[in-house]
Amino acid sequence: MTSGSFPEIRPRRLRRTPAMRRLVAETRIDAAQLILPLFVRDDIVEPLPLQSMPGVVQHTFDSLRAAVVEAAEVGLGGVMLFGVPADDVKDAAGTAATDPDGVLNAATRVVAAEVGDALVVQTDLCLDEFTDHGHCGVLAPDGSVDNDATLVRYRDMAVEQARAGSQLLGLSGMMDGQVAAVRAALDADGFQDVALLAYAAKYASAFYGPFREAVGSTLRGDRKTYQLDPANRREGLREAVLDVEEGADIVMVKPAMSYLDLLADVSATVPVPVWAYQVSGEYAMIEAAGANGWIDRDRAVLESVLGIRRAGAEAVLTYWATELARTLKGL
Ligand code: PBG
Repeated sequence: MTSGSFPEIRPRRLRRTPAMRRLVAETRIDAAQLILPLFVRDDIVEPLPLQSMPGVVQHTFDSLRAAVVEAAEVGLGGVMLFGVPADDVKDAAGTAATDPDGVLNAATRVVAAEVGDALVVQTDLCLDEFTDHGHCGVLAPDGSVDNDATLVRYRDMAVEQARAGSQLLGLSGMMDGQVAAVRAALDADGFQDVALLAYAAKYASAFYGPFREAVGSTLRGDRKTYQLDPANRREGLREAVLDVEEGADIVMVKPAMSYLDLLADVSATVPVPVWAYQVSGEYAMIEAAGANGWIDRDRAVLESVLGIRRAGAEAVLTYWATELARTLKGL
């Protein structure tokens, strides 16, 4: 609306001062809504920096302990643990995933004992870290990923993770029926109170590239027969709705930044919390551009997570979780 050549409506009034902008901000980031993904190995004596994720390491059990204590101190909502088994314990069935002394289950015990009351201890429930072929499930004789045989493995894995003290299982394998299968297994073993985070809409994405280094992935080929096609929006929503019907307590969209439309759709539709995973490639791109002086790294980090929250994610898994929590506290 204008009167003569001057506007009558002036939205800029609300942007005039830092105090006004802070007061009218629609979205905030709270440390309690950030989850830190962590990688742990049992065959290293020093934390191992990841080349493609500057600032992120594969942890020893000792450095993992320190990282989760710090995460609790800065008030994070949780940590998500990924185990990195030595190559010689990987096999076709991913046996180490269901070994109570396998790296992920052993690390979960340590973390649960250390910070289990202060934050939510979460574990990745998928076979790809543990299989020698690198796929998220077991293979049929023809080389395809066998959905229903994989569910049997996931059920056992879920029970072992719950026994180890995981409070929220992150189902990231994209097998059909995985939420219902795991829920039934947990309930049958007395773990009714262990919650399920379904990676409901997980896309076959190039942005997982650095993660493959992080977990020493041996994958050849791709995951296009089980992860979603990046072209599909309606199908992502369908997956989220199905997972809620199967008993998911929380659903997730992954990756985050290239899938904000999905995040908005899912958050408008489902009656459970919706989270997003800002994945390794998203982290690496901002770090790389920042290191080159091409963008203001710190502002880009904040803006990227704010955008994910604004699109509809109530909580965000991000490798910057601890750093962001410190920034927000002015530390
Ligand atoms: C599967 C899993 C992956 C990621 C988290 N869980 C890799 C994949 O699906 O290929 C990727 C996370 C990231 O890129 O940060 N266990």
